[in-house]
Parts: sequence; structure tokens; C-alpha cells
Amino acid sequence: MERPRPLQKAREYEIEQGRKIDSIQRPLLHLSPYMGWMNDPNGFCYYEGQYHLFYQYYPYDRVWGPMHWGHAVSQDLLEWNYLPCAMAPDTDADAGGCFSGTAVVGENGELMLFYTGVQLPSSSHPSLQTQCLAIGDGRDFEKVRENPIIHPSQLPKGYSHVDFRDPKVWREDDKYYMLVANRHETKSGTILLFQSTDARKWNFLSEIDASYEKHGRMWECPDLFHLDNRCVILVSPQEMEAGEELHAGFGTLALLGKWSTENHSFQREEIQVVDYGLDFYAPQSVLSPDGRRIIIGWMENWETSTSSSRKYAWYSRMSLPRELRIKNGRLLQQPIQEIKQYWQDTKIGEYKVSERCSINGVDGRTLDLTVELERQNTKCRRFIIHLAANEEYYTELRINLARNELFFDRSKSGTRRDIVHSRQIKLQDIKEKLSLRIVLDKECIEIFVGEGEQVISAVIETAPEIDGIFFSADAEINMHYISHYMER
Ligand code: FRU
Repeated sequence: MERPRPLQKAREYEIEQGRKIDSIQRPLLHLSPYMGWMNDPNGFCYYEGQYHLFYQYYPYDRVWGPMHWGHAVSQDLLEWNYLPCAMAPDTDADAGGCFSGTAVVGENGELMLFYTGVQLPSSSHPSLQTQCLAIGDGRDFEKVRENPIIHPSQLPKGYSHVDFRDPKVWREDDKYYMLVANRHETKSGTILLFQSTDARKWNFLSEIDASYEKHGRMWECPDLFHLDNRCVILVSPQEMEAGEELHAGFGTLALLGKWSTENHSFQREEIQVVDYGLDFYAPQSVLSPDGRRIIIGWMENWETSTSSSRKYAWYSRMSLPRELRIKNGRLLQQPIQEIKQYWQDTKIGEYKVSERCSINGVDGRTLDLTVELERQNTKCRRFIIHLAANEEYYTELRINLARNELFFDRSKSGTRRDIVHSRQIKLQDIKEKLSLRIVLDKECIEIFVGEGEQVISAVIETAPEIDGIFFSADAEINMHYISHYMER
């Protein structure tokens, strides 16, 4: 009997195994993989009337393996339908894996997937990273015979042939442009720019930014867009050193600056942290048909994902889609407005919090909750929220109003892992009312501070039936709340 080819095999496997998964395990609004392992969002686009999100995918296990591209579609970015696996590592150019990349709508309405093909080592070279192209109709894709379309031998001296990945492609004035991440011998993480007229033959143009070890070693998954008159480049560095705002390890930064259309160069003006939490990496953006810039990130962390427990036949989730804007120079994020469609039961009120208390109807594991604390006329210095809580387990949000600090801690959430569980951040925008929007979706927690100038994302392992929410303060403080229970 003829053996099924890798893509056919993956498609058969995910259908057969995927149907055994009880959807109650999955988050309500966060995308999880059809089967097995998922990491970075890929090819995030709006194509023929719906959003497409591809993802780094290994269907056969809940750990990273030879990378395929998984595929899901959605009308509102919150309710997803799986499409068959889009690509498997099955050619000479990508036998070691189909790594991250972008989707671009071509001149004739076709969907073009640009991705990194990892070439297996041979007697003449070590494993190499190349850039490749597959073209299709939004469901089935064919890899072009010109692959790889960029070979690392095209790089100037000093750039790595092994760390050369994650193409971000766009079309502008009849030309294609591609950013690719690289690691330079002396400059460490860099972003390189290429140009093409036919999407197949590419020329190296320039290096547009570099880390010089200041913000991590290798820079992964660049994205670039223009927002409110700024050019924003998102990049996810590996091996960052901790700084005033930065935590050590993997994270995502927004480089804000100016893009010169004539020279295709970038002048960086500042760096902002995209997420202060434990689990957020490698985001990609899309422009919605009504002009909103929306990002989705992988809600995980490479440093800790190997030791997280594997309860289900699938592993990991994407973050909520977040709308971006810039206000007073600061990148702001909010859950996309479509989330309102899932609000079922709204409770609005005011409460004087001191001793540990709960509020009738403000509980559950699928909740969009905003609390506002009145900082005036109170002696309160410490305010605490326990989420997904009972008498034994909780995830704690502790606000030190005197020092304007926010402390997040999931160490009592029921985890048995000896990994980092907490983060402490300095609040940036101090107003009379401190506002926190907390979106809880089963094991996903995302906290948006103020207008979204700071975000903390983390995954917890607390059993689903533990669904209390408790508030306490060291002195009476007035709290306003709006709580929306969410359901499909
Ligand atoms: C980032 C990353 C990318 C790479 C992919 C491999 O999380 O390391 O740089 O393309 O994951 O799965």
C-alpha cells in the first residue's frame, strides 16, 4: 500500500483524533490547536470574507516537533473553525520544518504563504534556514518549485545561516518587501530587509535594526505596521537581560519609530514592552476590514512550556485578539470589541471593600470584569483580588496603591511546577481611579491596566470548578465593577 504523504497523514490524523476532543476542555474564546502542539501565530490575514490564522503545529504530540502549519478561520477572531493542516515538512527545502511566516494576498487573489524552510544538515552543510513560498486558495497550498526563494548564501558576511527566519512580507507599490530575523556575529539580533518584484527572486536591501545584545540575543518573528503616524515593529527577543521594565528571558518588544518610504529604513525612537506577564510571545498583526490593527500572540513561554503539565490531547493557546492604538506615545491594547457578543449576564455596582468579600454574580471562569478603585479619600494601601479561587487555591493580583505597583502571582493556583509564577510591575499611568480589566477564560488570564497601557497575560492550571472571585483591602476603599459573564 502506498504510504500517505506527510500532509495527507497529518490531515487524516487530526480529523481522526481531533473529533475525540471534548470542546468543553478548550477555552471559550482563545484558539487552541486542533490536536497536539501549537506555538507561534502564522499567516494572520483577512482573506475572502474571513480571518485566517495559521500556527506552528505538531499534530502528533503535545511537545514541539517537526513543524507543520495548522489552520483555523473565524468571522470574529473569537469563534474558530479548524481547516485541514496547511503545510507539512515534505520537500528538500523544508524537510527540517516549516517555521513561522506571513500570508499575503497575491495580485490574482491567491493566498501566498511565506515561511522559513529548515533544511536538514548534509555532508556539505549544517542545518540551514531558508525562506520559502507556498501558494493556494485559502485551504490547499502548493510549494513553489523555486524554493528556497531566499538562501542564506545571499546574506552579507557576518549574518547567520542557521538563525535566519520568520519572514514578514507585504506588498507596496508593485513590489514585495520582506523582513527576516537574523543573528549577526557581533550585533546579535537583527532584522533584515529584502525586496522582490515577483515574490520569487529576492534582493537583500539593508539591515533595519539590531539588538547589540541590549535587548536579547536572537530576535524572532518581526512584524511591521503603521499606526497613528508611527511605524511599529514588533519583535520577540530570546535571552533578554532583566531591566527596569523588562523581565529576563523571552518576551515581546514594540520598537516605535519612523519608516522612510524612499530609503526603506527605520529610525528607532523608543522601545516598549508589549506584555508584562508570564505567557505571551511572537505576536502577529492583521488589519481588519474596518481598519483596526489587531494582534494575537502565543500564550506561552519557551522557558517554561516544557515543564507545564499536559492535561489534554492539545497543548497551548493563542492570546485574545487585541486592538492597538497609540495615545501619548504609548501603545495601548484592548480586547477586540467583538468580545461583547459573548457577554451574557452583566452586573454593575459599587462596593466598599475591606475584609475579604465576594460579590453576588461576580464569579466564574469565563468573565470579562472591570474594576475601578477610587484612590481618593482612602487609607487603603493594599488591595487584593483572588481569581479562580476557593479557600485553598487562587491566583492573586495585589495592588500596592502607595507604591503604584501591581503584583501578579499564580503560585497558589494549583500548579506543581517549580517555574516562575509571579511578576511585579510599576504602574505607568496614575489616575484618580485605577482601572483593571480582567478577562478570564478558563485557564487564560489577561489583565489590561488603565486604557491598556500595560498588559499581563498568564496561563493557570486551576481546576475548572474553582471559580470564586474575592476582593480584600487593608482599609476601606470604594470599588466600581462591571462584570460580564461570557458564554456561547
Ligand atoms: C518563535 C520560533 C520562531 C520559529 C518557530 C519554530 O517562537 O522560535 O523563530 O520560526 O518558533 O517553531
